Amino acid sequence: AHAKHDLLDPNRVVNIAHRGASGYAPEHTMTAYQLSHKKLKADYIEIDLQMTKDGQLIAMHDETVDRTTNGTGAVKDKTLAEIKRLDAGSWFNTANPEYAKAEYKGLQVPTLDEIFDKYGKHANYYIETKSPEVYPGMEEKLLKTLKGHGLSSDRVKPGQVMIQSFSQASLLKVKALDEGFPLVQLMEAPTVQSITPEALDEIQTYAVGLGPSFKGLTRENTAMIRERGLLLHPYTVNEKVDMERMLDYGVTGVFTNYADRFNEVLHDM
Ligand code: G3P
Ligand code: CA
Repeated sequence: AHAKHDLLDPNRVVNIAHRGASGYAPEHTMTAYQLSHKKLKADYIEIDLQMTKDGQLIAMHDETVDRTTNGTGAVKDKTLAEIKRLDAGSWFNTANPEYAKAEYKGLQVPTLDEIFDKYGKHANYYIETKSPEVYPGMEEKLLKTLKGHGLSSDRVKPGQVMIQSFSQASLLKVKALDEGFPLVQLMEAPTVQSITPEALDEIQTYAVGLGPSFKGLTRENTAMIRERGLLLHPYTVNEKVDMERMLDYGVTGVFTNYADRFNEVLHDM
């Protein structure tokens, strides 16, 4: 959608597949990414990173494997081989019987390497450093992995690889290691509800955009953020009425579990 604009052009609205097509398939599996990329036509695959005991970056939202696999325990205490033995799909069938599929059973947790092996330069990535304080070296490993796949900041399209975090320290670390990647400061609802011009000034020294909870956005704070030229990508906007409201406020994209719905809203405008 909107291919005529650069991904970082604030006049383009981007559709970010939150944890892949996670409304329809088990989040952060290759199946969920493929569905969002090929079928739902999202602009970005969103990837949350965690790091294994042996220093491998994997795509998973939580710090523990409990919710999204058949295992238990912290990612940081498990090797990649241990994580690869887990079933990352069956939980989805139990939690979402209306979208359950036999083929989801036994899906594996992907590594960041595997995601880049599959899509290379043929996808856009919106990558979050999760719990960076738990994983020393996570930013270095991320940049090394990108580089190993020909995805360094000087070799990708502007905005093809976005790096996002709730942790300002993590974003600053990425910036110190590689100036080139566009950074997005994530923010919980209460923080964006009480955002000040001074706080936005500081964010603008390192980030191209803000990724707040959509629950904290109003017409007023949206205008204040957008006036400065910051990109604004609220999470996680799943209902059409909220998608329409966010577009009406003037956001420049959304994170959604239902990229098809957001494309429908965009096409109906
Ligand atoms: O990264 C944007 C959004 O995904 C932040 O919330 O908890 O879903 O990673 P979370
Ligand atoms: Ca995320």
